Amino acid sequence: MQVLTSTTAVQSRALDLRASERSIGLVPTMGALHEGHLSLVRAARRENDVVLVSLFVNPTQFGPTEDLARYPRDLEGDRQKLEDEGADILWRPPAEEVYPPGYQTYIRVEDLETRLDGATRPGHFRGVATVVSKLFHVCLPHRAYFGQKDAAQVAVIRRLAQDLNFPLRVVVCPIVREPDGLAMSSRNAYLSPADRQAATVLYRSLQAAVSLYHAGSHAAESLRQCLIAAISSEPRAKLDYAAAVDPDTLQPLDQVTRPTLLAVAAWFGGTRLIDNAVVAPRAHSLLP
Ligand code: PAF
Repeated sequence: MQVLTSTTAVQSRALDLRASERSIGLVPTMGALHEGHLSLVRAARRENDVVLVSLFVNPTQFGPTEDLARYPRDLEGDRQKLEDEGADILWRPPAEEVYPPGYQTYIRVEDLETRLDGATRPGHFRGVATVVSKLFHVCLPHRAYFGQKDAAQVAVIRRLAQDLNFPLRVVVCPIVREPDGLAMSSRNAYLSPADRQAATVLYRSLQAAVSLYHAGSHAAESLRQCLIAAISSEPRAKLDYAAAVDPDTLQPLDQVTRPTLLAVAAWFGGTRLIDNAVVAPRAHSLLP
């Protein structure tokens, strides 16, 4: 696996690959790689000639009081995992390569950036949209891989890819879970043993709402109340949001007459975790 830092080196490599008609699969990451990330790398490996993984802890998507400084970093471990998965290129730019002095251009996905996590984390999706647009411009991928766990991020990235005419396909891969149902996240590493145990309530809340839906309760508000009741029953959880929304617009729905994203976020100590499931008419669900 080739490890590159320079933006121009990656972009000229991508241009060469495109000129020789080799397909590029991009997996954008912030490192601290777990099985969720590796499932994206495997999907990219299956579907492309060249797998390019970016590793950049993007400062613009962290708020001033958030965990940028302590975000888990394990460069050597990440490099080894990517090598083992057969990735071809690892791009890990220094922050000055991505945001050189004088940098002032940002992408805003105006309505979506205010919804779900965007409501709790003002400016977060502006940072995500900006860095992902830059990754697309530099890496020139044919396909770019993201995890369904970050459902609001997926909506933002799909929208910007369409609005800005990026010639690529956004591929969304299923949530990867721990054996007890907790969705894999780099931030799980922050949890105390008691909070790690309590955090399984997120998955249980989704299971309860999905079961309620399959039992015939199709009103979005009743599903939302079910999520809230389940999360509130765990004393260590502090609810951030529970929502039943359109997966593309993230706007609240009244009834499940089409695919509906059930999304939850809660704090466990100082750590905020998210999870989601999709319910849809005709017994379609993304819960494993
Ligand atoms: O999902 C993430 O890890 C980040 O938000 C991303 C897409 C790599 C952008 O920094």
